[in-house]
Amino acid sequence: MSHPSDGALVKPLFDEARIAARVRELGSAIRADHGDEEITLLCILKGSFIFTADLARAIPGKVAIEFLGVQSYGDHTQSTGVVQITHDLTKPIEGKHVVLVEDIVDSGLTLRYLVDVLSARRPASLKVCALLEKPVGMSKIKPDYAGFEVGPEFVVGYGLDWAQRFRNLPFVGAVDV
Ligand code: IMP
Ligand code: MG
Repeated sequence: MSHPSDGALVKPLFDEARIAARVRELGSAIRADHGDEEITLLCILKGSFIFTADLARAIPGKVAIEFLGVQSYGDHTQSTGVVQITHDLTKPIEGKHVVLVEDIVDSGLTLRYLVDVLSARRPASLKVCALLEKPVGMSKIKPDYAGFEVGPEFVVGYGLDWAQRFRNLPFVGAVDV
């Protein structure tokens, strides 16, 4: 158990080395599926900023990076089903090979909404890469690339937050409040 601050405990699940190895595999798989094409990594802020930074370096060849700010939870741990775009893309994705980079798929509501909105902008292709996936069956959408499966617990670290905390933990762990 690590004690990051004011009493909340985080039980480590995936350490830095394990994450790095999996990110390398995901990067190779993404490149293999796209030939020599330029890949536009679409980082979903804020949760996937660290994952995107590492994933970008694991994909050889031409990679562009764009950012999309969304908020689906506020500071609660339950999905509201309402997705708000807080920062839109600055460039059109029409004709681009886009890979949406998400931190975690839980109910899948966020991803469903984003895939619908982004498909309407006519990318050449649109895939989804998620670092973490909560139990299959609950999710309304399956990522094309997924790092690890986690249980129903609330996870933090490596970009993921609990009320804006713990994003800076270098590992992924389950919060125990
Ligand atoms: P969904 O819409 O229910 O799939 O929720 C997806 C979003 O909720 C993710 O992009 C995360 O930002 C957040 N989220 C869901 N589960 C967790 C968790 O266990 N830890 C941190 N954030 C989470
Ligand atoms: Mg979040």
